[in-house]
Amino acid sequence: MLLSSLPAHYGRAALLAALMLIGQSALAADAIEDKAKICAACHGEQGIPIQKTFPVIWGQNEGYLIYQLRDFQSGARKNELMSPIAATIDKADINAFAAYFSKLKWPNLQQPIAPADIAAKAQATAASVGCPGCHLAYFQGDGTTARLAGQNHDYLLKTMNDFRDKTRGNNPGMSDLMKATSPDDLAVLAQYLAGLQIEAYLGNGR
Ligand code: HEC
Ligand code: HEC
Repeated sequence: MLLSSLPAHYGRAALLAALMLIGQSALAADAIEDKAKICAACHGEQGIPIQKTFPVIWGQNEGYLIYQLRDFQSGARKNELMSPIAATIDKADINAFAAYFSKLKWPNLQQPIAPADIAAKAQATAASVGCPGCHLAYFQGDGTTARLAGQNHDYLLKTMNDFRDKTRGNNPGMSDLMKATSPDDLAVLAQYLAGLQIEAYLGNGR
């Protein structure tokens, strides 16, 4: 694909390309698979995002995907690339997009497994904050709570800091938790979570 040959900061080019695709093909009758081709411009043809600061959405939990699309539409969550795309999504398609992407297999981003000392530190912080109480034992999340395991490292770090300084303001609870966690601990958590390979434990082929 042409986009893959563009240099580093091509988020804007991808946005323009996606908006052009929408202009050409956003007929109400299009199947959700066709409409989802627009999303691949940034979230990846095979579910591997084109930039490390972009999130994996393939295999993400359905309820969580619904909430995010609604929040981008309402403006509760804002991003210069994703907000204009969300604005073009028909409200009636939000559930279909979420169902479609949640059923795709989470991609392996080949991120390194965290070394033992980092893992131990991350687990201690996670236990003291209580992350697994909501994100569950393998950080697979459920329902409206996000899967974190194997998510893009740079995206994880960015979004936790965005919660922390309220750049991401759509979940005050997560913002409070991130404010109570030091930037160093967030960096350790991002490294650990990005490297988690959980398919073998989940055993459900996702
Ligand atoms: C121009 C690039 C671009 C396109 C095209 C795009 N996205 Fe996004 N998307 C992003 C970025 C960047 C983010 C992360 C925003 C942030 O950091 O807060 C994002 C975030 C998301 C999230 C939140 C994921 C999470 O883990 O919180 C969902 C859901 C999503 N996009 C769905 C879609 C869907 C569905 C489409 C197609 C209709 C689409 N995106 C098209 C760039 C894009
Ligand atoms: C009380 C429950 C709860 C606890 C505890 C919690 N989270 Fe969350 N977390 C959530 C929910 C719910 C969301 C989805 C927020 C939204 O809708 O935007 C979330 C979202 C996230 C996201 C964004 C995922 C994405 O794809 O954008 C990250 C990263 C995250 N949490 C990390 C953590 C870490 C690390 C901890 C522990 C230090 C933690 N959370 C503790 C409930 C929790």
